[in-house]
Amino acid sequence: MKKLISPLDLTTQEIDQILDLADHIIDNPKAFAHKCDGKILATLFFEPSTRTRLSFESAMLSLGGQVLGFSSADSCSASKGESVADTARMAEGYADIIAMRHPKEGAAAVAAANVDCPLVNAGDGGHLHPTQTLTDLLTIHRLHGRLNNLTVGFCGDLKFGRTVHSLIRAMMRYTGIKFILVSPQELQLPDYILDEMKANGADFQVAERLEEVIGEMDILYMTRVQKERFFNEEDYIRLRDSYILDPEKMALAKSDMIVMHPLPRVNEISVAVDKDPRAAYFRQAKFGRYARMALIMKMLEVD
Ligand code: NCD
Repeated sequence: MKKLISPLDLTTQEIDQILDLADHIIDNPKAFAHKCDGKILATLFFEPSTRTRLSFESAMLSLGGQVLGFSSADSCSASKGESVADTARMAEGYADIIAMRHPKEGAAAVAAANVDCPLVNAGDGGHLHPTQTLTDLLTIHRLHGRLNNLTVGFCGDLKFGRTVHSLIRAMMRYTGIKFILVSPQELQLPDYILDEMKANGADFQVAERLEEVIGEMDILYMTRVQKERFFNEEDYIRLRDSYILDPEKMALAKSDMIVMHPLPRVNEISVAVDKDPRAAYFRQAKFGRYARMALIMKMLEVD
């Protein structure tokens, strides 16, 4: 596999292999410390990131490889007008694998079409984020022990949340999954994802009040309202605090429900929830390192 743009670029068998490998890495990280000796990862980040970039870099360093890159559009030649395709072609000359984040939907696919080396979409605008999906699937598989027969609630900005779009696409392929989609009307899932769900016969329910549905969920996937994708500040301010998960709402949830969030969190999960054993988001962020280690090994065909 040379390019990862959408989670659907991976078969469910390939996902299983990556999750199995991640499990082995978690159990015995030392055994993997030299798997990528001499290899270089380029992180081309045209948009802000903490976890994705640092976990990619940590993953490559933990495999014995090295990293180079940039972390904002201002600090590379995009600020001089260079195209994404040209920047990617340059990076291919300096690295063995590329991870790219960009504010425009489709940017990673354009870059991928212009390079021969493996390239990973680390988030393209409000579209997709397949390595967050691998992180999320690893979290679910480690904390619930299965990827099927689960009721998964998504809450917040389902319109612009690329992590939501990616995870729904990936989870539609497992059996016994029920989706509960909780958002204000203006932030509902885009039609193209809803159409895919309908075409796949996915079981889903739309709700506006979290309190009414939280009790059914095995997983609650909270999201931040994506300020940077709004066209005006007023709409953002009106919608940003639509949902705030707090201990009172947690009291309505199952005792083994897990709360996930790709992070960064703004207001949507009260810090009082952090000490609840069902809060999984910081563990989830940590799993991102291992999911990406496994992915890098697979993409570089190292075993
Ligand atoms: C997410 C992203 O960038 O889409 N963060 C991440 O990668 N962990 C979620 C977000 O920014 O809200």
